[in-house]
Amino acid sequence: AGALLSALMVVAPFLIADQARADDPIVIKFSHVVAENTPKGQMANKFRDLVAERLDGKVVVEVYPNSQLFNDNQVLEAMLLGDVQMAAPSLSKFGQYTEKLQIFDLPFLFKDMAAVERFQNGPAGQKLLTSMEDVGLLGLGYIHNGMKQLSASKPLLVPEDARGLKFRIQSSDVLQAQFEAVGALPVKKPFSEVFTLLQTKAIDGQENTWSNIYSKKFFEVQEHITASNHGLIDYLIVTSDEFWKSMPDDVRAEVDKALAEAIAHGNKVAMDKATGDRAKIAESGRSTIHELTPEQRAQWVEVMKPVWAKFEDQIGKDLIDAAVESNM
Ligand code: LMR
Repeated sequence: AGALLSALMVVAPFLIADQARADDPIVIKFSHVVAENTPKGQMANKFRDLVAERLDGKVVVEVYPNSQLFNDNQVLEAMLLGDVQMAAPSLSKFGQYTEKLQIFDLPFLFKDMAAVERFQNGPAGQKLLTSMEDVGLLGLGYIHNGMKQLSASKPLLVPEDARGLKFRIQSSDVLQAQFEAVGALPVKKPFSEVFTLLQTKAIDGQENTWSNIYSKKFFEVQEHITASNHGLIDYLIVTSDEFWKSMPDDVRAEVDKALAEAIAHGNKVAMDKATGDRAKIAESGRSTIHELTPEQRAQWVEVMKPVWAKFEDQIGKDLIDAAVESNM
């Protein structure tokens, strides 16, 4: 009996500690790479606030912006290891996990954000949310940033202007092919390095949304921006299947509802930033914004669009057709 008692004395403190842990809130670490004054930054903060309001103490969302916690090339691995519970990498950054999401990188695929919205909300877009189930990642929804613009140290009016220039790209093979199609030299680099690469002239240009060009000050180190709207940066809000299912049903339902409202808020911010941040860049006088004539734009389309065919087998023709239909 004496032995049993002393064994209990050793074990008891741990039992008590475990008890305390059961009452601890569920912590959702939400990691992202952009600034807080962006569509994704505002969405994540709104989500945190709504969860705090409604799930008082049961769930706590901690937001880590500006690549503070992870870069996009590390975050999905960290998620599968349980070090982070939610993130919203751009749709261009899932290549290691699925080929399907490459659809969103095809140049000149969507004519505007309304078409993007129709595609994402339609059956094909919704099905893509579960395209990484086999590896344990679950898409919870999309959030917009907006259309991409080209920026460089010189004016880019026709594809020939980009020949031989180095462009930073996100980690996407489609984007690599897109820049190779114009004879440029694409380099895959994390978002957190772009400003310095531009400032030190290690690269000549990049492609991004008005919101990212403004909030990360790329316009201060790029003298020329072409309003090309040639592609898209949107996000997949992603979690690990294991974490998501580990939450009690009623809690998960509340979290999901808060997320839907946060997404709606972020999408409004995205619309405002697409025009507002562009105007702020124009006002700054630091960068000249170039509009393309229809003839110039047609040249970019002609050179870049053949990229679609290269990825048709990986993405699937049905999916591409569905995306094209969303333009109607
Ligand atoms: C980029 O790397 O340029 C973007 O994906 C950053 C972001 O999250 O908008």
